[in-house]
Amino acid sequence: MTNVSLIPQPVSVKKTNNFVEYFPEFSIIGDVLFSGEIQTAQLQFKNDRTGVETSSKTKIQCTKDTSIAGEESYEVSIRTDYIEIRASGQAGMYHGLQSIRQLVLAGKETNDNTLPCCEIADSPRFPWRGFMLDTSRHFYTMAFIKKMIDIASVHHMNVFHWHLTDDQGWRLPVEGFPLLTEIGSMRDDKRATWGNVTGGFYSRNDIHEIVAFAAERHVEVVPEVDLPGHASAILAAYPDLGCTGGPYRVEDRFGIFEDVLCAGNDRIFELFASIFDSLVDLFPSSYVHIGGDEVKFNRWEKCPKCTQRMKSLGLEKVPHLQSWITVRLVEMLKERGKTAIGWDEVLEGPDSFPLPLEVIVMSWRGLEGGIEASAKGHRVIMTPMTDGCYLNFKPLDNDEEPGHLEVCTVRQSFQMEPVADEMTAEQEKLVLGGQCNLWSEVIYASRIAEYMLFPRLCAISEALWSQKASRNLASFAERLPLHRKKLDALDVCQFRGPLE
Ligand code: ACM
Ligand code: ZN
Repeated sequence: MTNVSLIPQPVSVKKTNNFVEYFPEFSIIGDVLFSGEIQTAQLQFKNDRTGVETSSKTKIQCTKDTSIAGEESYEVSIRTDYIEIRASGQAGMYHGLQSIRQLVLAGKETNDNTLPCCEIADSPRFPWRGFMLDTSRHFYTMAFIKKMIDIASVHHMNVFHWHLTDDQGWRLPVEGFPLLTEIGSMRDDKRATWGNVTGGFYSRNDIHEIVAFAAERHVEVVPEVDLPGHASAILAAYPDLGCTGGPYRVEDRFGIFEDVLCAGNDRIFELFASIFDSLVDLFPSSYVHIGGDEVKFNRWEKCPKCTQRMKSLGLEKVPHLQSWITVRLVEMLKERGKTAIGWDEVLEGPDSFPLPLEVIVMSWRGLEGGIEASAKGHRVIMTPMTDGCYLNFKPLDNDEEPGHLEVCTVRQSFQMEPVADEMTAEQEKLVLGGQCNLWSEVIYASRIAEYMLFPRLCAISEALWSQKASRNLASFAERLPLHRKKLDALDVCQFRGPLE
């Protein structure tokens, strides 16, 4: 092992000419504060390639160092006579362990059991470094979700945005609304791979397991329930919640559908209350994503109940019903101690229903939503489909590549920049970070999902973790071949084409 080759690039790396031979295994020891991180890393190192033995000569010493500012910051010293990670917080210690894990993974193929002597000092540029997985358009197994969380965390990513509901499948158990999962989780299987219907949902135990697994890796799980559009699965289960009464079906087509929740029906708020109560119970995160994207208004326009609602609220335009619903959703979450996140459409309200300032806006149609929201004082998360963040797009402009709609090259993902040029210093402070999204309409197998995520997720991780001044495409391109070997060692199916 000659290089200190890491993705994302650390703030500072100083390398000397020596190396440490650790064969055959490590012992990881240290401050009791870090016993959880040490235990997790022992498991990871063992599963990845090398054993962990308490008697091993090669020790990784995990030291609490309160002089290191920042919960997520860490320092690593690899010297001929010892290996040490220093951090003031548990998250920082975890990140330090992942950096060493990367160096170990890099040697798997060649059976190289040495680490390069070096001094690393590192900390993140943004606090929100996420990836979203759409588990509605296609259902993914627990094992796959865990694998993706684990590998994202190797790249210091710290948010898993779990898209749990959409037109093509409802995946979340909700107390009091059992048909959401009984009916809403299954749809016709056009591919008929496993039978005539396909789908599934995550049980309460499954969700607890994912949340705990992620927490051990310092990844926060943020659930999304998409409301009031993308609601076909809800309507198939509870047709009285739609404007026309149906019949409805869990969609097996992809697109944006006209049937949404009826804004004139008070029962939708009973549904929201039950959903949020279930979310409070299942997810410790202080955030809940309420969706809000791509709501069609045709049904509301023609619905007597929706028209009556508009009249009683004194609304001038049909779309304002969405703003009214959004404000109610935000308040209901606030009562439950949660902060709402919404796709950038939630900004489009009238003055009578301004978006509450605490709402975090997720900018997806471009950078504009984030620019506008931060100008209004909202915190923002950048995930522009125009700038490298939509990993459902093809990685290359070629018919044979998986993916749909557009092209998003590895280079574009690498060049994603969460702070727009137009932003003032005040606006910049409101940028929490960003994330990549994997929408899964055409991603019908987990191996293809991996192919879409890697190595573009690695490129995004660098955009979100590394300092802007140190971001350099040539340097990324130089580190990528060895990084691919680490992904191979983690059994990742990856896109091996050019950066473009
Ligand atoms: C989205 O891509 N509809 C948020
Ligand atoms: Zn209606």
